[in-house]
Amino acid sequence: TPNIKPLIAGNWKMHGTSASLSSLEAMATGFAEAASDADGVICVPATLLERAAGVVEGSSLQVGGQDCHPAEKGAHTGDISPEMLSDCGAIYVIVGHSERRADHGESDGVVADKAKAAWRAGLIAIICIGETEAQRKAGETFNVLEEQMAGSVPAGASATNTVIAYEPVWAIGTGLTPEIADIEAAHAHIRQHLRKQLGAETADSMRLLYGGSVKPGNAGDILSVENVDGALIGGASLKAEDYLGIVGSV
Ligand code: G3P
Repeated sequence: TPNIKPLIAGNWKMHGTSASLSSLEAMATGFAEAASDADGVICVPATLLERAAGVVEGSSLQVGGQDCHPAEKGAHTGDISPEMLSDCGAIYVIVGHSERRADHGESDGVVADKAKAAWRAGLIAIICIGETEAQRKAGETFNVLEEQMAGSVPAGASATNTVIAYEPVWAIGTGLTPEIADIEAAHAHIRQHLRKQLGAETADSMRLLYGGSVKPGNAGDILSVENVDGALIGGASLKAEDYLGIVGSV
């Protein structure tokens, strides 16, 4: 979208130990050269966040978290609040990733609460939506997306506090991607629905990322689709060469 600066976001998922910080360092070093005009963030495991923030300091690459608890603090053993992520240097946090929705039974309502908590802590929420293979085959894709937007994108979402990531569940980690025309149709539908939900001005400036098997080889085609304002990258965000290759195709 012409007036929107793309965001190339990485999601390391449950990958990464101290040894992985060297690849983050290479990403930070290469980012400014590779990025024509894009923002970049790598969402690392919480265990690495503070050191990761130190590694990217002084570069234009940023770091983020992968999930947060809706509360600021309290008796929630093992959970991490967005304030804690922010304290460690996070700028973004992913909420409602399909793996969290599936593995932890997160409902749209929980995802909305997490997004609001992210804003409270001053973080940018990357809210994930996307249909399963069965839903796509049943022709329910647009209904599912509408329901997820209505339920997990809270009122108050703005282009500065929220990014929407469309990740078809069946395209995640599978090497499969939708046809370009299907990505275009889904993103157009998302934009249109967000206009109704949040108003045209907000919807037209909000970043809509595509996620699911984005690689250096297909990034150019995907990133040039109308209403695709960046990517959310899993596997290919683990290696500097791959991530920078995708960044370079913006
Ligand atoms: O959040 C990004 C993700 O779910 C996509 O993963 O490995 O298909 O790029 P991958």
